[in-house]
Amino acid sequence: MAGYLVDDTRKVTTHRLFEMKQSGKKIAMLTSYDYTMAQIVDGAGVDVILVGDSASNTMAGNLTTLPITLDQMIYHARSVVRGVKRALVVCDMPFGTYQVDPQDAARNAIRIMQETGCDALKLEGGVEILPAIRLILDAGIPVCGHLGLTPQSINKFGTYAVRAKEAAEADKLRSDALALADAGCFAIVLEKIPAVLAAEVTSSVNIPIIGIGAGGACDGQVLVVHDMLGMNKGFSPKFLRRYANLFEVMTDAIGNYVGDVKSGDFPNAEEQY
Ligand code: KIV
Repeated sequence: MAGYLVDDTRKVTTHRLFEMKQSGKKIAMLTSYDYTMAQIVDGAGVDVILVGDSASNTMAGNLTTLPITLDQMIYHARSVVRGVKRALVVCDMPFGTYQVDPQDAARNAIRIMQETGCDALKLEGGVEILPAIRLILDAGIPVCGHLGLTPQSINKFGTYAVRAKEAAEADKLRSDALALADAGCFAIVLEKIPAVLAAEVTSSVNIPIIGIGAGGACDGQVLVVHDMLGMNKGFSPKFLRRYANLFEVMTDAIGNYVGDVKSGDFPNAEEQY
């Protein structure tokens, strides 16, 4: 099934994303955590599907991304991969699987690739996790970086406010982005940082920069699919554009079903054997 605005239905690769940056074609990325959603997202023409550890929030109802485990991420990623024909599938390495020991990180990365069939991995952090990133890249696994607001560090930040507004943090983000690009990462997600800083980073590295709350100059954009479809009511940061109000659509539909069952209207004569 071809996407609405997609002029190329071949499987997306990290090389294609690099070419898209070079030719100024924007990259559309969304999360998915299950087979059914992944089929819809892929069929609509999204270039990159992220099996985000935001599954911890959207699918499991946790307050943070920290509790989700390696086994749970593997379950989500495997389900997504089964539903995707075209998009590049990137899986988040969950909290605790790459921060302690680079060799463990590489082993966990290999396990995700082997057991899910996904195309690449995403890790949060800069120079402090470079040894792990290098070993994972050495194993032949494409890595996407993630800088700015990194939700796995929420307990250190203490807030989900915009990051890198101060000069020192902005300088660290600039040098982290260069280090990740030099190490061989194929892309970097920049989350919730000033648009001017994201624009500067986007023009200073030759790999795609995908923004979320990082302004329009990035090479692409990513959103959590449940947020952009309006499936949850409580989360409405400034950067979020809602393309549907599925919370109300679904509540109405389910309410109608409940009414029809209770009134005896469902099933009718045509809906039985
Ligand atoms: O887990 C996730 O959904 C993410 C995106 C917000 C970039 O990391």
